[in-house]
Amino acid sequence: MPYTTVDGQRVFYACHASPTPESPSLILVHGAGGSHLHWGAPIRMLPGADVYALDLPGHGRSEGAGHETIAGYAAFVVAFMDALHLQQAVVAGHSMGGATALTAALNDPQRVAGLVLVGTGARLRVLPRILEGTLNDFENTVELICRYAYAPHAPREMVYRGRQQMRTVAPRTIHADFAACNAYDVMERLGEIRCPALVIVGTEDTLTLPKYSSFLAEHIAGAELKLVEGAGHMVMVEKAGEAAGAIAAALARWNL
Ligand code: COA
Repeated sequence: MPYTTVDGQRVFYACHASPTPESPSLILVHGAGGSHLHWGAPIRMLPGADVYALDLPGHGRSEGAGHETIAGYAAFVVAFMDALHLQQAVVAGHSMGGATALTAALNDPQRVAGLVLVGTGARLRVLPRILEGTLNDFENTVELICRYAYAPHAPREMVYRGRQQMRTVAPRTIHADFAACNAYDVMERLGEIRCPALVIVGTEDTLTLPKYSSFLAEHIAGAELKLVEGAGHMVMVEKAGEAAGAIAAALARWNL
């Protein structure tokens, strides 16, 4: 599995090349305290795109500390594209990763060919219990986040794996991620987005309400909304096949 160097630090990404030449590049950006494994295998191995599922700095197998702001993560994604000599890519982001993707499209529109916004919003205020608990009561707060993150009927094993993964991220990094989400707000800027966009949300998402996704779809010109019945915030692992199908169909329609 490959690594590259961004800002002097080793960054891990899982890469799956499309069997079809001239396919668009698709970068997958995970959420707060996550890793590339937050994307189910059908998405990481989506046919019809060269897929790069990265670990943000300080997460998964990537070195360094996390960034303090969403703009910092957005600049990191563009620097990652530079490191891989990708002139343009579709950027897919989950939760904090969606905020990162949107901010990259606002700050570097010529680099973002399309957006896939999964379980996210134009503003992501965070419960004080999560914000403070990541610093003061780490284990219980990870437990709480994972309880909210999956629909009640999600397989126990899936929730267990999610919790184990989150525990490997430093508390200060997870705290900084949620603080970055809490300070982020692009509600007034969605009209500036010019690239095609697909918005995906689970109908049982309690961390980023379906209402947030409706707002994105209503305010980004031409955006499409895909509601995934019965999925929670982790829709891209809970119902990976359905989410992958929606992304593949959108990429085919966009014909980039
Ligand atoms: N898109 C559309 N509407 C949004 C929005 C978004 N991204 N973010 C907030 N709003 C709406 C809210 O629904 C609310 O509308 P209402 O007054 O009609 O109910 C209004 O804007 C203000 O909401 P918010 O900015 O969130 O402030 P708040 O003080 O009402 O609530 C929290 C703060 C933390 C309680 C709340 O944001 C919450 O429950 N968050 C989800 C849990 C969480 O921590 N998620 C983690 C995200 S990374």
